[in-house]
Amino acid sequence: MKILLFGRGGQVGWELQRSLSVLGDVVALDHDAAHNPDQLCGDFSDLAGLAETVRRVQPDVIVNAAAHTAVDKAESEPDLARTINALAPGVLATEAQKLGAWLVHYSTDYVFDGSGQQPWCESDATGPLSVYGQTKLEGELAVATCAKHLIFRTSWVYAARGGNFAKTMLRLAGERYVLTVIDDQFGAPTSAELLADVTAHALVKALQQPELAGLYHCVASGETSWHGYASYVLAQAQALGWALQAGPAQVMPTPTSSYPTPAQRPLNSRLNTKRLQSAFGLTLPHWQQGVARMLTEITGKQ
Ligand SMILES: NC(=O)c1ccc[n+]([C@@H]2O[C@H](COP(=O)([O-])OP(=O)(O)OC[C@H]3O[C@@H](n4cnc5c(N)ncnc54)[C@H](OP(=O)(O)O)[C@@H]3O)[C@@H](O)[C@H]2O)c1
Repeated sequence: MKILLFGRGGQVGWELQRSLSVLGDVVALDHDAAHNPDQLCGDFSDLAGLAETVRRVQPDVIVNAAAHTAVDKAESEPDLARTINALAPGVLATEAQKLGAWLVHYSTDYVFDGSGQQPWCESDATGPLSVYGQTKLEGELAVATCAKHLIFRTSWVYAARGGNFAKTMLRLAGERYVLTVIDDQFGAPTSAELLADVTAHALVKALQQPELAGLYHCVASGETSWHGYASYVLAQAQALGWALQAGPAQVMPTPTSSYPTPAQRPLNSRLNTKRLQSAFGLTLPHWQQGVARMLTEITGKQ
């Protein structure tokens, strides 16, 4: 089986290179053609180049981990965000459909408006608050035009490799005596490792049962706020021997309203994962498990 992976250098793309490698030959592409085999195009702003790449590689499965993920920046460059998050996945869907290939894609809790307190189900009405959320929603619709698709909506992604909230908290806690962190947005930190492992497992099952094609919520279990997440990260880091100026007791809560950003974020980012767990026979681990593992991993590398 031939698997064409886009966005190989991102948090999820990096882990997918590992998890997909046992399923077949993985052609993993970078943004920059100079780093790719046969100069294949992996640049999502080059729509014709992308279509040509799929035609040349003739994959059985396309996995798209590339995206415009700079949520605030997307507000000032909506055309670029739309090209990368919606138009390019649409090109992949058209080409995958022609080949009869599977298309795997990732989306976000930011497609919702963040109202209420219940975890969102796949069938709930969307209502993005930001350009990022809107363009990711358009990307979902485009990907779903390919019959054999798997779309995983996730949230608050982190990995040992790449930049993310947990690492920012560690850096700031090394420099400051007090941190102020939002305590009224709720969701589940989800590791790129978990997403990559679920993807490989789900793909194997979907190849045997094409009726499993569809949209699934995929996040770690449990929930927290950014404040709870930061406090946990610092407590774990201290236990691992990190020298920090600020510990968990020095993480002060603040509401979203006191921290204005160009893009509005949903307050309720909880995602209901029952559909994924029952369709693919999976159990999703608690978010603290993956965060503790990532901290241990990056501590070992220091
Ligand atoms: N990060 C989160 O908290 C989060 C939350 C919910 C959903 N998601 C979704 O999960 C998926 C994976 O996210 P991630 O956290 O792995 O993101 P990431 O670490 O920011 O990686 C994004 C990847 O996209 C690539 N990319 C950006 N612009 C590109 C372009 N024009 N052409 C080709 N590649 C381009 C980046 O390459 P360069 O670095 O070379 O530009 C990078 O490899 C995305 O669909 C994202 O929307 C993420």
